[in-house]
Amino acid sequence: MKHLTSIRDLTKDSAIALLDSAQQLTQVNQRTVKNLPALRGKTVVNLFYENSTRTRISFEIAAKRLSADVINFDAQTSSASKGESLKDTAQTLEALGAAAIVVRHPMSGAAHALANRGWISASVINAGDGRHEHPTQALLDSLTIRQLKHSGTDLSGIRVLIVGDIGNSRVARSNILLLSMLGATVSVAGPIDLLPEGIATLGTKVYEDFDQALADKPDVVMMLRVQLERMLTSQGFTTSQYINNWSLDQTRLSALGKDAIIMHPGPMNRGLEISNQAANDPRSAVLRQVENGLAVRMAVLHRVLSGGYSS
Ligand code: NCD
Repeated sequence: MKHLTSIRDLTKDSAIALLDSAQQLTQVNQRTVKNLPALRGKTVVNLFYENSTRTRISFEIAAKRLSADVINFDAQTSSASKGESLKDTAQTLEALGAAAIVVRHPMSGAAHALANRGWISASVINAGDGRHEHPTQALLDSLTIRQLKHSGTDLSGIRVLIVGDIGNSRVARSNILLLSMLGATVSVAGPIDLLPEGIATLGTKVYEDFDQALADKPDVVMMLRVQLERMLTSQGFTTSQYINNWSLDQTRLSALGKDAIIMHPGPMNRGLEISNQAANDPRSAVLRQVENGLAVRMAVLHRVLSGGYSS
Protein backbone atom coordinates (compact mmCIF):
# COMPACT_ATOMS: atom_id res chain seq x y z
CA MET A 1 0.00 0.00 0.00
CA LYS A 2 1.65 3.23 -1.11
CA HIS A 3 -1.00 5.77 -0.10
CA LEU A 4 -3.95 5.97 2.26
CA THR A 5 -6.29 8.61 0.87
CA SER A 6 -9.60 6.80 1.42
CA ILE A 7 -11.01 3.74 3.13
CA ARG A 8 -11.58 2.58 -0.44
CA ASP A 9 -7.79 2.04 -0.67
CA LEU A 10 -8.25 -0.86 1.78
CA THR A 11 -9.71 -4.33 1.51
CA LYS A 12 -11.28 -6.01 4.51
CA ASP A 13 -8.10 -8.10 4.95
CA SER A 14 -5.72 -5.14 4.69
CA ALA A 15 -7.87 -3.13 7.12
CA ILE A 16 -7.80 -5.97 9.64
CA ALA A 17 -4.03 -6.35 9.16
CA LEU A 18 -3.61 -2.64 9.98
CA LEU A 19 -5.78 -2.98 13.09
CA ASP A 20 -3.74 -6.01 14.18
CA SER A 21 -0.46 -4.10 13.71
CA ALA A 22 -1.88 -1.13 15.61
CA GLN A 23 -2.99 -3.44 18.41
CA GLN A 24 0.57 -4.75 18.75
CA LEU A 25 1.91 -1.21 18.69
CA THR A 26 -0.32 -0.22 21.62
CA GLN A 27 1.93 -2.53 23.65
CA VAL A 28 5.07 -0.77 22.43
CA ASN A 29 3.46 2.47 23.57
CA GLN A 30 3.24 1.07 27.12
CA ARG A 31 7.00 0.39 27.32
CA THR A 32 9.47 2.69 29.04
CA VAL A 33 11.44 2.98 25.80
CA LYS A 34 8.81 3.50 23.16
CA ASN A 35 10.93 4.01 20.05
CA LEU A 36 11.41 1.58 17.18
CA PRO A 37 14.04 2.07 14.46
CA ALA A 38 11.65 1.18 11.60
CA LEU A 39 11.66 4.52 9.75
CA ARG A 40 15.15 5.76 10.57
CA GLY A 41 16.42 8.10 7.84
CA LYS A 42 12.96 8.76 6.38
CA THR A 43 11.30 12.16 6.47
CA VAL A 44 7.60 12.64 7.16
CA VAL A 45 5.99 16.03 6.56
CA ASN A 46 2.72 17.04 8.21
CA LEU A 47 1.15 19.40 5.66
CA PHE A 48 -1.82 20.93 7.48
CA TYR A 49 -3.99 23.60 5.84
CA GLU A 50 -6.63 23.31 8.56
CA ASN A 51 -6.38 23.49 12.32
CA SER A 52 -5.82 20.31 14.23
CA THR A 53 -4.79 19.21 17.70
CA ARG A 54 -5.15 15.44 18.00
CA THR A 55 -4.48 14.42 14.42
CA ARG A 56 -1.39 16.54 13.85
CA ILE A 57 0.20 15.79 17.19
CA SER A 58 -0.47 12.09 16.95
CA PHE A 59 0.98 11.85 13.45
CA GLU A 60 4.03 13.73 14.75
CA ILE A 61 4.51 11.47 17.76
CA ALA A 62 3.78 8.36 15.65
CA ALA A 63 6.51 9.26 13.16
CA LYS A 64 8.95 10.07 15.98
CA ARG A 65 8.23 6.76 17.74
CA LEU A 66 9.27 5.05 14.48
CA SER A 67 12.48 7.16 14.40
CA ALA A 68 11.53 9.16 11.29
CA ASP A 69 12.49 12.83 10.92
CA VAL A 70 9.33 14.93 11.16
CA ILE A 71 8.62 18.37 9.78
CA ASN A 72 5.43 20.24 10.61
CA PHE A 73 4.26 22.57 7.90
CA ASP A 74 1.92 25.29 9.06
CA ALA A 75 -0.02 26.81 6.15
CA GLN A 76 -0.53 30.07 8.05
CA THR A 77 3.17 30.84 8.37
CA SER A 78 4.41 29.39 5.05
CA SER A 79 4.38 30.42 1.40
CA ALA A 80 0.94 28.84 1.13
CA SER A 81 -0.28 32.10 2.64
CA LYS A 82 1.42 33.87 -0.32
CA GLY A 83 -0.71 31.78 -2.69
CA GLU A 84 1.65 28.92 -3.50
CA SER A 85 -0.31 26.00 -4.93
CA LEU A 86 -0.63 22.61 -3.27
CA LYS A 87 1.30 21.10 -6.19
CA ASP A 88 4.25 23.50 -5.89
CA THR A 89 4.32 23.15 -2.12
CA ALA A 90 4.30 19.35 -2.32
CA GLN A 91 7.02 19.30 -4.99
CA THR A 92 9.13 21.61 -2.84
CA LEU A 93 8.70 19.30 0.15
CA GLU A 94 9.66 16.29 -1.94
CA ALA A 95 12.74 18.09 -3.28
CA LEU A 96 13.69 18.57 0.38
CA GLY A 97 13.46 14.82 0.93
CA ALA A 98 9.94 14.06 2.14
CA ALA A 99 9.15 10.35 1.80
CA ALA A 100 5.60 10.71 3.12
CA ILE A 101 3.25 13.67 3.16
CA VAL A 102 0.42 13.66 5.69
CA VAL A 103 -2.08 16.17 4.35
CA ARG A 104 -5.11 17.91 5.83
CA HIS A 105 -6.90 20.27 3.48
CA PRO A 106 -10.29 22.03 3.32
CA MET A 107 -10.83 20.83 -0.25
CA SER A 108 -12.44 17.41 -0.69
CA GLY A 109 -10.19 15.39 -3.00
CA ALA A 110 -6.94 17.21 -2.10
CA ALA A 111 -5.20 14.05 -0.85
CA HIS A 112 -6.35 12.06 -3.86
CA ALA A 113 -5.01 14.75 -6.21
CA LEU A 114 -1.63 14.75 -4.45
CA ALA A 115 -1.39 10.98 -4.63
CA ASN A 116 -2.64 10.38 -8.14
CA ARG A 117 -1.81 13.27 -10.44
CA GLY A 118 1.84 12.36 -10.81
CA TRP A 119 3.02 15.57 -9.10
CA ILE A 120 5.15 13.73 -6.55
CA SER A 121 6.32 10.21 -5.83
CA ALA A 122 6.12 10.42 -2.03
CA SER A 123 3.45 8.46 -0.12
CA VAL A 124 0.34 10.45 0.73
CA ILE A 125 -1.77 9.95 3.84
CA ASN A 126 -5.08 11.75 4.10
CA ALA A 127 -5.51 13.41 7.50
CA GLY A 128 -8.91 14.86 6.51
CA ASP A 129 -10.00 16.45 3.22
CA GLY A 130 -12.99 18.77 3.41
CA ARG A 131 -16.22 16.85 3.91
CA HIS A 132 -14.81 13.79 2.19
CA GLU A 133 -12.73 11.35 4.26
CA HIS A 134 -10.56 10.88 7.33
CA PRO A 135 -9.39 7.28 7.05
CA THR A 136 -7.03 7.11 10.05
CA GLN A 137 -9.87 8.40 12.28
CA ALA A 138 -12.09 5.54 11.09
CA LEU A 139 -9.29 3.02 11.73
CA LEU A 140 -8.73 4.29 15.27
CA ASP A 141 -12.47 4.19 15.90
CA SER A 142 -12.71 0.57 14.70
CA LEU A 143 -9.72 -0.39 16.85
CA THR A 144 -11.40 1.21 19.87
CA ILE A 145 -14.67 -0.62 19.22
CA ARG A 146 -12.83 -3.92 18.71
CA GLN A 147 -11.04 -3.49 22.05
CA LEU A 148 -13.96 -2.32 24.14
CA LYS A 149 -16.66 -4.55 22.67
CA HIS A 150 -14.32 -7.57 22.61
CA SER A 151 -15.43 -8.45 19.14
CA GLY A 152 -13.43 -10.86 16.98
CA THR A 153 -11.00 -9.62 14.37
CA ASP A 154 -13.82 -7.92 12.46
CA LEU A 155 -16.85 -6.10 13.87
CA SER A 156 -19.65 -8.41 12.82
CA GLY A 157 -22.65 -8.22 15.09
CA ILE A 158 -21.74 -4.76 16.48
CA ARG A 159 -24.40 -2.07 16.07
CA VAL A 160 -23.06 1.45 15.69
CA LEU A 161 -25.21 4.60 15.72
CA ILE A 162 -23.58 7.77 14.31
CA VAL A 163 -25.33 10.95 15.45
CA GLY A 164 -25.42 14.57 14.32
CA ASP A 165 -23.91 16.53 11.47
CA ILE A 166 -23.43 13.57 9.13
CA GLY A 167 -23.39 15.51 5.85
CA ASN A 168 -20.46 17.76 6.75
CA SER A 169 -18.48 14.99 8.39
CA ARG A 170 -15.51 13.23 6.84
CA VAL A 171 -15.35 11.20 10.05
CA ALA A 172 -18.85 9.83 9.41
CA ARG A 173 -18.12 9.03 5.76
CA SER A 174 -14.91 7.09 6.48
CA ASN A 175 -16.54 5.33 9.41
CA ILE A 176 -19.58 4.25 7.41
CA LEU A 177 -17.29 2.73 4.77
CA LEU A 178 -14.94 0.98 7.20
CA LEU A 179 -17.51 -0.20 9.75
CA SER A 180 -19.65 -1.70 7.00
CA MET A 181 -16.60 -3.37 5.44
CA LEU A 182 -15.80 -4.91 8.83
CA GLY A 183 -19.31 -6.31 9.18
CA ALA A 184 -20.83 -3.86 11.70
CA THR A 185 -24.40 -2.64 11.30
CA VAL A 186 -24.32 1.13 10.92
CA SER A 187 -27.20 3.53 11.41
CA VAL A 188 -27.25 7.31 11.42
CA ALA A 189 -29.43 9.87 13.19
CA GLY A 190 -29.44 13.60 12.64
CA PRO A 191 -31.38 16.61 11.45
CA ILE A 192 -32.70 15.97 7.97
CA ASP A 193 -30.89 19.06 6.65
CA LEU A 194 -27.58 17.62 7.81
CA LEU A 195 -27.99 14.20 6.23
CA PRO A 196 -26.20 13.77 2.92
CA GLU A 197 -28.28 12.95 -0.11
CA GLY A 198 -28.26 9.26 -0.94
CA ILE A 199 -27.22 8.25 2.59
CA ALA A 200 -29.47 5.18 2.43
CA THR A 201 -27.55 3.88 -0.60
CA LEU A 202 -24.50 3.48 1.67
CA GLY A 203 -26.46 0.71 3.39
CA THR A 204 -27.18 2.60 6.60
CA LYS A 205 -30.47 2.83 8.42
CA VAL A 206 -31.56 6.44 8.89
CA TYR A 207 -33.36 7.64 12.06
CA GLU A 208 -34.99 11.03 12.21
CA ASP A 209 -35.38 10.75 15.96
CA PHE A 210 -32.50 10.23 18.42
CA ASP A 211 -34.68 8.73 21.16
CA GLN A 212 -36.10 6.15 18.82
CA ALA A 213 -32.57 5.27 17.70
CA LEU A 214 -31.53 4.81 21.36
CA ALA A 215 -34.57 2.64 22.06
CA ASP A 216 -33.07 0.16 19.57
CA LYS A 217 -30.10 -0.23 21.94
CA PRO A 218 -26.99 0.42 19.85
CA ASP A 219 -23.68 -0.98 21.16
CA VAL A 220 -21.83 2.20 20.17
CA VAL A 221 -23.04 5.79 19.97
CA MET A 222 -20.67 7.97 17.97
CA MET A 223 -21.39 11.67 18.43
CA LEU A 224 -20.15 14.16 15.82
CA ARG A 225 -19.12 17.77 16.26
CA VAL A 226 -21.53 20.30 14.80
CA GLN A 227 -19.28 21.68 12.04
CA LEU A 228 -20.36 25.29 11.94
CA GLU A 229 -17.40 26.19 9.71
CA ARG A 230 -18.66 23.88 6.96
CA MET A 231 -22.28 25.00 6.97
CA LEU A 232 -22.90 27.03 3.85
CA THR A 233 -26.20 28.52 4.94
CA SER A 234 -28.30 28.43 8.06
CA GLN A 235 -29.40 24.83 8.41
CA GLY A 236 -32.93 25.54 9.55
CA PHE A 237 -32.53 24.99 13.29
CA THR A 238 -31.43 26.99 16.30
CA THR A 239 -28.85 25.91 18.85
CA SER A 240 -31.52 25.17 21.43
CA GLN A 241 -33.49 23.07 18.96
CA TYR A 242 -30.32 21.16 18.14
CA ILE A 243 -29.65 20.52 21.83
CA ASN A 244 -33.24 19.41 22.47
CA ASN A 245 -33.29 16.97 19.59
CA TRP A 246 -29.73 15.79 19.09
CA SER A 247 -27.60 16.33 22.19
CA LEU A 248 -26.48 13.31 24.18
CA ASP A 249 -27.88 14.81 27.38
CA GLN A 250 -28.55 13.36 30.83
CA THR A 251 -31.91 11.81 29.88
CA ARG A 252 -30.55 10.13 26.77
CA LEU A 253 -27.53 8.97 28.73
CA SER A 254 -29.88 6.98 30.98
CA ALA A 255 -31.50 5.40 27.92
CA LEU A 256 -28.13 4.06 26.82
CA GLY A 257 -27.31 0.42 27.62
CA LYS A 258 -24.87 -0.09 30.51
CA ASP A 259 -22.36 -1.80 28.22
CA ALA A 260 -22.72 0.67 25.38
CA ILE A 261 -19.82 2.97 24.57
CA ILE A 262 -19.84 6.68 23.76
CA MET A 263 -17.43 7.97 21.13
CA HIS A 264 -16.54 11.41 19.77
CA PRO A 265 -13.65 12.22 17.40
CA GLY A 266 -12.98 15.54 19.16
CA PRO A 267 -12.86 18.45 19.44
CA MET A 268 -16.04 18.22 21.54
CA ASN A 269 -18.50 21.08 21.83
CA ARG A 270 -19.51 20.31 25.42
CA GLY A 271 -23.06 21.46 26.00
CA LEU A 272 -23.94 21.28 22.30
CA GLU A 273 -23.76 17.81 20.74
CA ILE A 274 -22.57 16.19 23.96
CA SER A 275 -23.28 17.09 27.58
CA ASN A 276 -20.58 17.30 30.21
CA GLN A 277 -22.07 14.26 31.93
CA ALA A 278 -21.89 12.19 28.76
CA ALA A 279 -18.33 13.31 27.98
CA ASN A 280 -17.25 12.37 31.52
CA ASP A 281 -19.32 9.17 31.79
CA PRO A 282 -17.40 5.92 32.43
CA ARG A 283 -18.80 4.62 29.14
CA SER A 284 -17.03 7.41 27.24
CA ALA A 285 -14.20 6.10 25.04
CA VAL A 286 -12.98 9.52 23.92
CA LEU A 287 -9.49 9.33 25.43
CA ARG A 288 -9.08 5.70 24.38
CA GLN A 289 -9.77 6.90 20.84
CA VAL A 290 -6.97 9.46 21.12
CA GLU A 291 -4.59 6.85 22.53
CA ASN A 292 -5.42 4.42 19.73
CA GLY A 293 -4.86 7.16 17.17
CA LEU A 294 -1.16 7.04 17.93
CA ALA A 295 -0.86 3.28 17.34
CA VAL A 296 -3.00 3.41 14.20
CA ARG A 297 -0.88 6.21 12.71
CA MET A 298 2.31 4.31 13.51
CA ALA A 299 0.88 1.26 11.72
CA VAL A 300 -0.20 3.33 8.70
CA LEU A 301 3.11 5.22 8.39
CA HIS A 302 5.00 1.98 8.64
CA ARG A 303 2.78 0.29 6.09
CA VAL A 304 3.09 3.01 3.45
CA LEU A 305 6.80 3.61 3.99
CA SER A 306 8.07 0.07 4.40
CA GLY A 307 5.34 -2.21 3.24
CA GLY A 308 4.09 -3.54 6.56
CA TYR A 309 4.66 -3.60 10.28
CA SER A 310 6.02 -7.13 10.43
CA SER A 311 8.40 -6.89 7.47
C1 NCD B 1 -12.25 15.71 13.15
C2 NCD B 1 -11.83 16.34 11.85
O1 NCD B 1 -11.05 17.27 11.82
O2 NCD B 1 -12.29 15.81 10.86
N1 NCD B 1 -11.37 15.87 14.20
C3 NCD B 1 -10.37 14.96 14.30
O3 NCD B 1 -9.59 14.77 13.38
N2 NCD B 1 -10.30 14.24 15.43
C4 NCD B 1 -13.63 15.99 13.52
C5 NCD B 1 -14.08 17.39 13.65
O4 NCD B 1 -13.35 18.35 13.41
O5 NCD B 1 -15.24 17.54 14.02
